[in-house]
Amino acid sequence: MIKKTISQTGLTDVLLKEKQLYKPSAKTLKMAKIKNVPATLKAAQKDPLKFWEEAATELEWFAPWKKVFEDRHKPFYEWFVGGKCNIVHNALDRHMDTPVEKKTAILWESDAGKHRQFTYRQLHTAVNKMANGLKMLGVKKGDRVATYLQNIPEAAITMLACAKIGAIHSVVYAGFSGNALATRLKDGRVKVLVTSNVGHRRGKVIDMKTVCDDALKQCHFVKKMIVVRQNDDLVKMKRNRDFFYHDLVDPQSDICKTVPVDSEHPLFILYTSGTTGTPKGIIHVHGGYMVGVNRSFQWAFDIRGDETYWCTADPGWITGHSYIVYAPLMAGITTLMFEGVPDYPRPDRIWKIVEKYKVNILYTAPTLIRALMRYGEQWPKKHDLSSLHLLGSVGEPINPEAWRWYHKNIGHGKCPIIDTWWQTETGMFMITPLPATPLKSGSATFPFPGIEVDVVDSKGNSAPAGKGGFLVIKNQWPSMLRGVYKDPARYKKTYWNKIKGVYFTGDLAHRDKDGYFWIQGRSDDVLSIAGHRIGSAEIESALVSHPAVVEAGVIGKPDEIKGERAKAFVILKKKYKLSESLIAELKKHVRSELGPIAVPSELEFVEKLPKTRSGKIMRRVLKAQELGEKLGDVSTLAD
Ligand code: PRX
Repeated sequence: MIKKTISQTGLTDVLLKEKQLYKPSAKTLKMAKIKNVPATLKAAQKDPLKFWEEAATELEWFAPWKKVFEDRHKPFYEWFVGGKCNIVHNALDRHMDTPVEKKTAILWESDAGKHRQFTYRQLHTAVNKMANGLKMLGVKKGDRVATYLQNIPEAAITMLACAKIGAIHSVVYAGFSGNALATRLKDGRVKVLVTSNVGHRRGKVIDMKTVCDDALKQCHFVKKMIVVRQNDDLVKMKRNRDFFYHDLVDPQSDICKTVPVDSEHPLFILYTSGTTGTPKGIIHVHGGYMVGVNRSFQWAFDIRGDETYWCTADPGWITGHSYIVYAPLMAGITTLMFEGVPDYPRPDRIWKIVEKYKVNILYTAPTLIRALMRYGEQWPKKHDLSSLHLLGSVGEPINPEAWRWYHKNIGHGKCPIIDTWWQTETGMFMITPLPATPLKSGSATFPFPGIEVDVVDSKGNSAPAGKGGFLVIKNQWPSMLRGVYKDPARYKKTYWNKIKGVYFTGDLAHRDKDGYFWIQGRSDDVLSIAGHRIGSAEIESALVSHPAVVEAGVIGKPDEIKGERAKAFVILKKKYKLSESLIAELKKHVRSELGPIAVPSELEFVEKLPKTRSGKIMRRVLKAQELGEKLGDVSTLAD
């Protein structure tokens, strides 16, 4: 084992040493130009492999790597080749018998205001017991375990328990329907599913177990289900298949060896929307992922080691994986998990929590900021938010109005807003300010050290300042996806074959004259509804699976709060007549196929849809028409 102590100093100290100031001033403003960033960062751009290798030595490994980076199987890149590690060793084990073990690892508050917390030692014990429970059910290294859980400590415990024994977790967002869950279980050929009997949201009780029972009717290969009991209601359990979490886990030993795995061993699969109806299973691995996620978190959020940090995401999305669970635990700080919603029972729930737990770093999404902004500044004013020293944003561009509100009313003008641009596929922040970067509201500023980002035209030529184009990444990074589960061709086609030699993000962007990146949205038909990524094609295929629908075209329309909302254009079968009840039924159908986030806010019934000669629906044309914009090139339009 290579022993290296973690650097808890944070980047600010590096910058201070280099006589850069923490708050943007005339002097730090000079940093706006990439060429003026401090030497530390400049060196990273010059020699990224050295930068990432140094980042890797901040963590502990069971055996050192032989090579930092390998591209022999392009685009299936490998990092820290030959190294042996386990992310859970870095997130938990190495904190044992150090002062960190007594610190609070997880603070949790339920929808109803109940509170639980775990020290690092207690979390370590809980994870060991769950890992032993999984082993007892036959889970082995490489097996897939899915979770369908709300934001409760057991969600994090299960992820960590899987990783500990080398099993692969597949977290399914608890807002998805039984069908969406089944699709993901099938693709991953999941062995064990972990859920709870009920969930809680806005004071309502949600039946989670029944959703899982329904999904398992289609998935007989799922041999066991573990059920976290959230209340005393009677739960229908299937003999030899279903086990209550506590019955299984409580009697287990609290000792469980962390399995050393290859750096490239899969850590998790996380499904994300693309341009076709089937979601892609994005694969991340132990070694590179832990290095990228740890370094980006410590630097962008300037972690010193004593913070209470709250990321309001759900573990069902990549933000929850990287920056609720893994990064904060590797950094040895306190991560807050909240089961409920930020404006229930009153619009100041979120601020109440910040005050109660003295949150130092708040990481949230523009959609939420806009929603909270609507309630007015009197709500945050009721609370002492002085513990906050840094604010984060993710998921979509933060519009200047929301930025200013967040900066003034929540950060009281003293907290930098770290707008992080990244994706499920990237695993970590790719474009983000560091706390000393002078900010421009609405821009995610510059690439993270070691990352080479560009805006290009369809041939791969760099676009000049001010001109929009495709956002691409020109080099590799350790926490990059390792593929699409069971679909290498889709991995190549989606990310590497669109523009030669670069990673295609799917986003449109431009760079201003100071080199700041501005994200303009997706170039493909992927919507971002309240920060949740969902494909037009997914909603369309849910609609056409209803007997009344012949064809459907779905577009995104701007929404003041959610960023975007879905509108569907639907062609009905002749024998069906348009009615309010049919609209309601179609919405209900999408909800049951995919879940509430995918339900179109508007349905319009049409006779025809604009198509190419090869029969592909031209959503671009539908959208331009809907928004009253120019139709653009319609030469491929069939009719
Ligand atoms: O379009 C970009 C947008 O969200 C997409 C990635 O979605 P997902 O994989 O679900 O991950 C979301 C959380 C990392 C991107 O392609 N996006 C993400 N962050 C930002 C953003 N758009 C603008 N600014 C951001 N900070």
